[in-house]
Amino acid sequence: MIKRRTLLSAIGAGLLGAGALTLHPRQRGAPHGAYFARLSNALRAAGIATPTMVIDRDRLLANARQVRRNIDPRMQLRLVAKSLPCLPLLDDLVDRMHTRRLMVFNLPYLQQLAGQRPELDLLLGKPLPVAAASAFYTGFKGGAFDPARQLQWLVDSPQRLAQYRDLARQRQLQLRVNIEIDVGLHRGGVASAETLQQMLAIFQSEPRLQWSGMMGYDAHLSKLPDLPGVRAGALADAKRIYQEYAALATRTLQPAGLILNAGGSPTYRLHDGSATANEVALGSALLKPGDFEIDALADLAPAAFIATPVLKAPPQFQMPDGVEWIGTLARTWDVNQRRVYFIYGGNWLADPVSPAGIAASGLYGTSSNQQALLGSGAQQLQVDDFIFFRPRLSEAVLQQFGDIAVMEAGRITQRWPVLAAMP
Ligand SMILES: Cc1ncc(COP(=O)(O)O)c(C=O)c1O
Repeated sequence: MIKRRTLLSAIGAGLLGAGALTLHPRQRGAPHGAYFARLSNALRAAGIATPTMVIDRDRLLANARQVRRNIDPRMQLRLVAKSLPCLPLLDDLVDRMHTRRLMVFNLPYLQQLAGQRPELDLLLGKPLPVAAASAFYTGFKGGAFDPARQLQWLVDSPQRLAQYRDLARQRQLQLRVNIEIDVGLHRGGVASAETLQQMLAIFQSEPRLQWSGMMGYDAHLSKLPDLPGVRAGALADAKRIYQEYAALATRTLQPAGLILNAGGSPTYRLHDGSATANEVALGSALLKPGDFEIDALADLAPAAFIATPVLKAPPQFQMPDGVEWIGTLARTWDVNQRRVYFIYGGNWLADPVSPAGIAASGLYGTSSNQQALLGSGAQQLQVDDFIFFRPRLSEAVLQQFGDIAVMEAGRITQRWPVLAAMP
């Protein structure tokens, strides 16, 4: 009897052990593939050995051509400056994408663009306090840029429009004003015909104000659950609302050459010129950071990466003294936590992409100085090798590394200074 029971328990324990083994995470990871090996070589040849934002210009321009193919000739294009916050990058895209239209989101960029790129056509992407608009005119030194023709302020309410009217009167300005409308995102903007009518009355009563168009941002359309009818219904609503507001305004004001802006990277393909909008705004898609890995942008390639060297590659991952046993458990349980790589910098709004199979440690705690990344060792990383991250956003992240390194045909050919980070 006893023997039989012992035997059964032994078999049970063995089965449990085997079960636990099969539950162990599988080994992941591999050395850099051809693309990132080439990028590593390019950086090394350029003497770069600190955390660096790299733009692959070949991919960037391929993305630019693809976006053009997708919208031509039905929609005009406006580049979103806050998502491409670097003057040479904007210059390159203005040139290659044949547009002078930019969307600007803050006073410092507006001042720089008006001063240094006087050929551009600027539309504000958010309503600025009237005091900021006033500061623009105070600081504006004149020159080839003509704000009365090339700048559209964005206004979201009758109250703000009245403030801009007073500014125009006080400073004897001609102001072009675009109306922000709420097409379903509910981030502000005109949300009723009555409000719009109040604004139209202000335009009618003040010749210093010129109504230039509408801006209806619709980012929600890409975030809605893909349940039957939900997205299609919201898209139909957005187009109907846009159409109704534009029809009401054009009946009252009858202007020419309206800018009817819609969309952003995730939604630009929803606009094909068959509805009211005649222009899409877009920035992030051209660099395609990680948050833009969506079906609607499947024909574009990631074109911006953070490169940073490995500073330390000890033979095994260890937790600090006192809790070393936790590290031992982690290593034993998960082969992907066997090795640790301390990198130069870290803790960015970005995810490691190459070599495959490395990840931040959930145990060790993060660091902006020397972040710990764990892997199985299959990556074959050595000290001074590069690790690459894909930023989740281009906005703000692009500006954390000083001059951008531009890669073309496998070589770093240019360094592009970035604009100062601004909300
Ligand atoms: C008004 C407006 N239009 C367009 C965009 C799209 O920018 P992106 O193409 O970089 O997503 C944004 C982004 O925040 C926005 O606020």
